[in-house]
Amino acid sequence: RKALSLQRLQEMHATGEKIAMLTCYDAAFASVLDEAGVDVLLVGDSLGMVLQGEASTVPVGLQDMVYHTRCVARGRRSAWVVGDLPFDSYQASTEEAWKSAAALVKAGAQMVKLEGGGWTAPVVRFLVERGIPVCAHLGLTPQTVTMLGGYKVQGRDEAAADKLRREARELVEAGAQMLVLEMVPAPLAAELTQSLGIPVIGIGAGVGTSGQVLVLHDMLDVTPGRRPRFVKNFMQGASSVQDAVRRYVAEVKAQTFPDNALHSY
Ligand code: KIV
Ligand code: NA
Repeated sequence: RKALSLQRLQEMHATGEKIAMLTCYDAAFASVLDEAGVDVLLVGDSLGMVLQGEASTVPVGLQDMVYHTRCVARGRRSAWVVGDLPFDSYQASTEEAWKSAAALVKAGAQMVKLEGGGWTAPVVRFLVERGIPVCAHLGLTPQTVTMLGGYKVQGRDEAAADKLRREARELVEAGAQMLVLEMVPAPLAAELTQSLGIPVIGIGAGVGTSGQVLVLHDMLDVTPGRRPRFVKNFMQGASSVQDAVRRYVAEVKAQTFPDNALHSY
């Protein structure tokens, strides 16, 4: 398979070929996911919860992200690697954001992801102008879940939807080249996917986005405790982990996952 690139991802968005993305935290899974046709590997700060056993992503440190990004980068072949900037690595200043983003890039990230809108636009511009591609993340932003009042759907009323539209536009104008939308009503996510001009990757955002992402451990059913409704257990009926991941890729490409009745809002 030819290596994924920003141009290829943009082309997939433009032609409607769905982008399959999963979180990934180590070299072994990077190799399995890449081989199974996953387009984008997200070294997510969700590793704080699924690997470290924390109650949220807030305690994750930059060095944790550097370590896992390096592990994933060694295992991938052609998939695109996105590294999450963790809490307290980009909020204080654009200079600190640059240092943190550069550390992830040096570890093998091809793009960095940061959460939030409004104040983040100048940060995105700063990074992009200096050569680091940025993925934005709006809707449910786990690093600020306390401010949001819990893990719940965002952009439900018209005022909240308008704020989301405005923030997404500002991030695109600032140079963001991908956007993750988490727990957003399906019609709003579809509308943004049509209007923004960059790939929009949904998680709990319906089937009308440019692609999907799930936390690897959720879709392999090895996350302890309750799962959000947007998760599907791909191990059910699968003969192996490899088979489960192949099924995920196939369902994302065929738009049979997510099911708007079962996994969306
Ligand atoms: O950290 C993560 O896993 C994420 C995805 C849920 C988008 O940010
Ligand atoms: Na994250």
